[in-house]
Amino acid sequence: MRILTVVGNRPQLVKAAAVSPQLRKLMEEVLVHSGQHYDRELSAVFFEELGIPLPDHDLAVGSGSHARQTATAISRLEPLVEQERPDAVLVYGDTNTTLAAALVAAKMPLPLVHVEAGMRSFDASMPEEVNRVAVDHVSDLLLCSTETALENLRAEGLADRARIVGDVMADVARRFGPIAEERSRIHDQLGLRRGEYLVATLHRAASVDDGPSLRRATQLLAAVAEELGPLVFVVHPRTEARLAEAELMPTLEANPRIIVSRSLGYLDFTALIRGSRAVLTDSGGLQKEAYLAGVPCVTLRSQTEWLETVTSGWNRLVGLDAEAALRDLGQLIARRREESPDPAIYGDGRAAERCARELVSWLEVATAP
Ligand code: UD1
Repeated sequence: MRILTVVGNRPQLVKAAAVSPQLRKLMEEVLVHSGQHYDRELSAVFFEELGIPLPDHDLAVGSGSHARQTATAISRLEPLVEQERPDAVLVYGDTNTTLAAALVAAKMPLPLVHVEAGMRSFDASMPEEVNRVAVDHVSDLLLCSTETALENLRAEGLADRARIVGDVMADVARRFGPIAEERSRIHDQLGLRRGEYLVATLHRAASVDDGPSLRRATQLLAAVAEELGPLVFVVHPRTEARLAEAELMPTLEANPRIIVSRSLGYLDFTALIRGSRAVLTDSGGLQKEAYLAGVPCVTLRSQTEWLETVTSGWNRLVGLDAEAALRDLGQLIARRREESPDPAIYGDGRAAERCARELVSWLEVATAP
């Protein structure tokens, strides 16, 4: 049995760190990197730190508009899939890399497996939502992190192809969280003491590509830093470019309550999150990682795919409203002194093992003569 897995972005590398080793116990895996993320801090460092097998092929797609990025990945992947002749193709999450690989497999046609299926924000203006919906509808096996994801698929008539396996990012968090705390020197490097700072990230198109939203977001961070700082702002390359264009970087860097850091590797970033009082983010994965680390979060968006973090009360959706962010952070930090979140809602740390087993038993049936 031979599976071709396509990754390309930072969050997919984290997921592959859990799933690839489990797949390789049961079958042969060909790993393809689309090259959507190419900077060392968004790609190479994850292979090194998380022990992900090196990719067999790199499509070197690079940056560009959504259409160009997706089209380039499709046109470079198709001949490779023809040459490799896998029994199935596996994709993760909701990025342009995921969409491109899904379309190639669906049109070949080859059986397609989607890990982290069924996530929905119900905001069709998000490029990731378009990707998720399209990929789920052309997939043959839908592996879900949560009951909510399965319910979303049921509502779209896709439940018969879906199974709940748990969350594979939670597997990685459980395994590498303690390693990160032991190995990382990030607190010394940034001059921080555990439990005394906040962490912020921003990279969504809706937050950073629109000038007024980006300005509001930086004002929100400054207001929070003033009241509850110090605040470490970990800046994605896309955000760095937008902040430079909008001439907002000098003000941020001059703020004595804000520490601006470039993107970090998995271990440093995980250690930073685990030692923080709270997190502010527009990232999907980080809402969940904060929850799993027992750290409260305010999400700088008006919806989330990771509903359980909100219904359990450890994540609040505040958009770009600085007053709401300050109020909710204060409440969450106070609550954390009394209790902590239950990580079990994202599985038992064995989701990747279940993904591999589900895949084998499904493929045996699907490809039986
Ligand atoms: C992508 C995903 C997003 C995911 C995120 C994780 C899509 C539509 N979006 O967003 O869902 O949460 O990855 O980080 O696929 N850039 C660099 N170096 C790199 C990669 C990107 O500088 O290695 C810059 C470029 O200016 C590029 C911009 O970031 O134009 C956007 O990169 P892209 O990969 O298209 O989207 P992300 O914002 O990273």
